[in-house]
Amino acid sequence: ASGCKIGPSILNSDLANLGAECLRMLDSGADYLHLDAPCSAVRSFLHFVPNITFGHPVVESLRKQLGQDPFFDMHMMVSKPEQWVKPMAVAGANQYTFHLEATENPGALIKDIRENGMKVGLAIKPGTTVEYLAPWANQIDMALVMTVEPGFGGQKFMEDMMPKVHWLRTQFPSLDIEVDGGVGPDTVHKCAEAGANMIVSGSAIMRSEDPRSVINLLRNVCSE
Ligand code: DX5
Ligand code: ZN
Repeated sequence: ASGCKIGPSILNSDLANLGAECLRMLDSGADYLHLDAPCSAVRSFLHFVPNITFGHPVVESLRKQLGQDPFFDMHMMVSKPEQWVKPMAVAGANQYTFHLEATENPGALIKDIRENGMKVGLAIKPGTTVEYLAPWANQIDMALVMTVEPGFGGQKFMEDMMPKVHWLRTQFPSLDIEVDGGVGPDTVHKCAEAGANMIVSGSAIMRSEDPRSVINLLRNVCSE
């Protein structure tokens, strides 16, 4: 692979110090920030994942604190992704990554995200085959192949998702392909070999005393 971008996931960081944690990642050489936003918390039967982090007001504050430069990839683990497009755009998100499983009309959502000036990411959970994503691949900027069940950081990397990445890379050579879940120094080479070029890593970076060296290591494996 010819180089990857590294996007730390701050899901496992100290959320009470989110701004400082994001700054720490950017200072450590992060290429972008992967912001996990399971935020449809009110109606519990509609939960897409059994966790809550933050919503667009926090994104707006982060944008103010961090300035215009950092790229915010919003991983929208919500059951009604249509609902948050405009608020997230206004708050300063750069990319809106929604789950294919969460919408009945991906085409309309893609259009709406673009009209709101954001890049489009389309995610699939481990149980969703890549054939469902393929029809949209030419309309999106990035495909996200989940390598854990979405919801929590610190889970075990699912290596059996790599054929999905490989298939997408073969079919869509210029598509950005992101992996998310359990990716760290021990697993990143599998992702890079399969063709991923956007690497999300949460706990492997967050738990390290030296995030800069982990980020460098992840990036170097990709360019081998
Ligand atoms: C999982 C989230 C991930 C998570 C990754 O639902 O989408 O972004 O924070 O964390 P690690 O790298 O610890 O699996
Ligand atoms: Zn994520």
